[in-house]
Amino acid sequence: MRKIIIAGNWKMNKTALEAIELITALKREVNDIDKVDVVVCPTAIALADVEDLLQDSHIGLGAQNLHWEDSGAFTGEISASMIKSIGARYVIIGHSERRQFFGETNETVNKKIKAALKEDLKPIVCVGEVLEEREAGKTFDVIKEQCEGSLANLTNEEMGKIILAYEPVWAIGTGKTASPDQAQEVHQYIRELLTKLFSEELAQSVRIQYGGSVKQENTADLMSQPDIDGALVGGASLESDSFAGIIKASCTISK
Ligand code: PGA
Repeated sequence: MRKIIIAGNWKMNKTALEAIELITALKREVNDIDKVDVVVCPTAIALADVEDLLQDSHIGLGAQNLHWEDSGAFTGEISASMIKSIGARYVIIGHSERRQFFGETNETVNKKIKAALKEDLKPIVCVGEVLEEREAGKTFDVIKEQCEGSLANLTNEEMGKIILAYEPVWAIGTGKTASPDQAQEVHQYIRELLTKLFSEELAQSVRIQYGGSVKQENTADLMSQPDIDGALVGGASLESDSFAGIIKASCTISK
């Protein structure tokens, strides 16, 4: 049994004050829900304020990125221990926007995963193909390369602490969601790959989120696919109503 996990990636949105308003409103709507895991990932400067408001809540807190070193001359970066010290338990790693705009590679993703695990943070590791790759029939090759590179040299125990997110880049922020069948096909492929790289038992236990234009209306169809265990939500996580709608729609699914 894999518990559904819905995470909101706020990206570079919301001032600290707006983040406080959003989490306050979200708590009002979903604080009692524990059928699914809920995580919010605000900007780094809003993490502390949001954590203060999550003390009495099931909602988990995550960062959107980290550096693999623990401290030092890395202007603008934050480390796993800093994220941990604030009370966050999750960190998104290798989001396609970081791969596209900030030079993130499978190698840096791998180093970041190891740094996060050292501090007991749960990495949410993103993989996904761009449109040209899908159209050229290379989706599985791209996913394989990203998974093998990003997850290199991890033990089964370490892999057991990771959440994967399949996010087709062409579906992110575009309003074009992968169909439930398209998403399921890749999720199933990832699970088969995990069986080869780790073990059958581990592959069956790892949660794989789908991300890319998830909204309330498409949540139930996506979440009822056998290998889809949650969602990584961008745009629709920026309003409490729409994010709460996704969380509540996920609660209707029995896995
Ligand atoms: P979106 O973003 O929901 O706005 O498409 C998803 C993501 O980037 O994680």
